[in-house]
Amino acid sequence: MDRKVKIAPSILSADLTNLGDAIRILNDAGADMVHLDVMDGNFVPNITFGPAFARQLKAISKIPFDTHLMINHPMRYAREFIEAGSDWLTFHVESEDNPTQTIKHIRDLGAKVGMAVNPCTPIEDLEPFISELDMVVIMTVNPGFGGQKCMNEHFSKISEVRRLAEKLGQDIEIEVDGGINEHNVAEVVKAGATIFVAGSAVFKGKRGPAGEIAALKAAAGI
Ligand code: DX5
Ligand code: ZN
Repeated sequence: MDRKVKIAPSILSADLTNLGDAIRILNDAGADMVHLDVMDGNFVPNITFGPAFARQLKAISKIPFDTHLMINHPMRYAREFIEAGSDWLTFHVESEDNPTQTIKHIRDLGAKVGMAVNPCTPIEDLEPFISELDMVVIMTVNPGFGGQKCMNEHFSKISEVRRLAEKLGQDIEIEVDGGINEHNVAEVVKAGATIFVAGSAVFKGKRGPAGEIAALKAAAGI
């Protein structure tokens, strides 16, 4: 199956005093989604953005919002983030809420549903839910912070999920999140990833976000 590969820049690594500008740049720089990293200081040891924040940024965005909930109780906040404009909502299989109920809740609220797995979590934990999902997110860093080194040893999970989805005849998106750059993006695309997140590679590079996005897309062959 021929799938379009998409880039989802994470604004966690943008200049936080100028996030409006970051969104305006992404609007015209060839980004396919805005990746919004939501952390609760509990599921992960860091705190970031809430729904009011998402709503204001979404109001100036021309591209879909891909919200990544790194929080213990996704059921409790799903409605607020979807009403704030999250087109895609991802929660973690390791979070405390019931996965099937959470998936249904997100879908009933009208967003696409993603489930993320941490580096140390096996795909078997996520496997029972694959048929209910629009997207699987393979974490290649321990969630909590941008700018970490990619754990390449988890790339095999991408092809593992692709095989399972194909067995089900399912055209699922597979997103890879953590430490993706010009040097490893081709490998994740080859393994079957259809969306790659890039935070520091987009916002901390010398060529500026538009130049870095172009370079990443060229390296990914898209
Ligand atoms: C990690 C986040 C990622 C990350 C991406 O907790 O979920 O989205 O910040 O940033 P880079 O590309 O710098 O790893
Ligand atoms: Zn993320």
